[in-house]
Amino acid sequence: MEKKTRNLIFGLFWMLLASSNLCIDGLNIWPMPSSLKYGAKTLYLSKDFGLDTVGSKYVDASSTLKDAFQRLLDIVETAHAIDTNSTYYNPSLLLKGMRVVISSPNDELQFGVDESYKLSIPSSGNPIYATLEAPTLYGALHGLQTFSQLCHFNFTTRIIEVRQAPWNIIDQPRFSYRGLLIDTSRHYQPLPIIKNVIDAMAYTKLNVLHWHIVDTQSFPLEIPSYPKLWNGAYSPSERYTMADAAEIVNYAKRQGINVLAELDVPGHALSWGIGYPSLWPSSDCPEPLDVSNEFTFKLIDGVLSDFSKVFNFKFVHLGGDEVDTSCWVMTPHVRKWLTKHGLNETEAYQYFVLRAQQIAISHGYEIINWEETFNNFGNKLSRKTVVHNWLGGGVAQQVVAAGLRCIVSNQDKWYLDHLDITWQQFYMNEPLTNITNLQQQKLVIGGEVCMWGETVDGSDIEQTIWPRAAAAAERMWTPYDKLAKDPRQVTGRLSHFRCLLNQRGVAAAPLTGRGRAAPEEPGSCYKQ
Ligand SMILES: *[C@@H]1O[C@H](CO)[C@@H](O)[C@H](O)[C@H]1NC(C)=O
Ligand SMILES: *[C@@H]1O[C@H](CO)[C@@H](O)[C@H](O)[C@H]1NC(C)=O
Ligand SMILES: *[C@@H]1O[C@H](CO)[C@@H](O)[C@H](O)[C@H]1NC(C)=O
Ligand SMILES: *[C@@H]1O[C@H](CO)[C@@H](O)[C@H](O)[C@H]1NC(C)=O
Repeated sequence: MEKKTRNLIFGLFWMLLASSNLCIDGLNIWPMPSSLKYGAKTLYLSKDFGLDTVGSKYVDASSTLKDAFQRLLDIVETAHAIDTNSTYYNPSLLLKGMRVVISSPNDELQFGVDESYKLSIPSSGNPIYATLEAPTLYGALHGLQTFSQLCHFNFTTRIIEVRQAPWNIIDQPRFSYRGLLIDTSRHYQPLPIIKNVIDAMAYTKLNVLHWHIVDTQSFPLEIPSYPKLWNGAYSPSERYTMADAAEIVNYAKRQGINVLAELDVPGHALSWGIGYPSLWPSSDCPEPLDVSNEFTFKLIDGVLSDFSKVFNFKFVHLGGDEVDTSCWVMTPHVRKWLTKHGLNETEAYQYFVLRAQQIAISHGYEIINWEETFNNFGNKLSRKTVVHNWLGGGVAQQVVAAGLRCIVSNQDKWYLDHLDITWQQFYMNEPLTNITNLQQQKLVIGGEVCMWGETVDGSDIEQTIWPRAAAAAERMWTPYDKLAKDPRQVTGRLSHFRCLLNQRGVAAAPLTGRGRAAPEEPGSCYKQ
């Protein structure tokens, strides 16, 4: 068959499949809610669809809810030009607005905040109002995201419709910690890029942006107490002021997302010594940070003091991974110090990590450390430690058996920079594997997908993160018994969500092929 004809036939075939897909749009919610019921009636979004907060104990002084509602309208209304004169505006089918009832006046966003919500859309009324009830503002924000996925532009009527009313959705997350790591040391990520990532996180109900700010390669962040640290930036312009960091924290908070700042010590810190060379054991052997120098700990104290003014999440991440201590042994003044204190290199690594933990605790933080700290001296770690798994599977099991909390990020399944890991593997990675004891299960506070930055900058970060991070987001949000046992059961729904991300301006990659692959041939978005 001639290629052109074959493509045409394929095209028609996929068009048919895609249109059959459209009929079940209402069930294409991602991530899938805990419980949902729906009917068969179509409602139309009124052209003055409004927000009503009567009865809410939350007074929206910060306009967070008002802005979130406006964002909802923007994402559902800007996809196509709406015909405000459409003859289809039947008054008895008009969805006039949404009543949002939030029971807590408090808008503090903290780990463990109640993120549940109930959304109901009746199919009749005079006029018809959707009702969104939530204990907190942050549950309500998730409810708005779900609602946005029930809205569809109809090309006949040219208005937005909500199909399959009446709707009753009751929803809450499975895990309290649902993270995504970005790395601004291997490549600088401009503020608008980070904000785009945050927007798409909100679409998928992820709630922690783990900001791996600095590392060996560059130190882009301003630290007011030690103003020469950002001499380690790649260039004078590839930097964040503390006000930029505060802007990111605030922008994320308004979408229900906490920012977890990371200071990875004592390894991964070479760039610190560009501004303060005495942090290096020596200029020939510059990593890890000099454990024998009191200035090292004084500086960490200053950095965490500055952090605590801006990064107000309960946790700070202190790294502690991949520490090669050979420079400590090879540098005469450090070796002398080790001998004097009767420490071998492993003990010195432990000394460093525990001392950094105490500094963080003195600034009001609880700590997250990468798993090597647990693997080497787990019983010495502060009980406030959350162990962050990455090396492989089976670690969470050991961490929670030792009574510590754990975040799961096993690199064989949840590292986004591993382009050969498919969305199916992201979807199927189960944080509670082999953990059956209920008390121990509760110690797994959640999981995190990691977008290490060696090969991502503003040109490709979105398509490397999405849609694979969304696959993991459903694993972390949706109750276990509602998750697909076979990823093929959710291919259509994820593919629909990926196209929705594209429609909202997010450069999510096709489902087929490796991470961030381009489409392979002509065809519908729903079939790639
Ligand atoms: C709707 O009708 C009004 C009044 O007839 C007209 O001015 C306006 O241009 C129309 N809008 C659209 C989008 O057709
Ligand atoms: C769009 O609206 C028309 C007219 O009400 C209806 O017949 C059609 O089924 C709608 N399209 C979809 C995809 O629901
Ligand atoms: C360091 O000392 C501890 C005992 O405190 C010992 O168990 C460990 O094997 C030693 N490590 C090295 C690398 O010598
Ligand atoms: C879970 O346990 C099974 C059976 O003991 C084992 O084969 C598997 O490797 C374990 N999985 C992990 C991730 O530890």
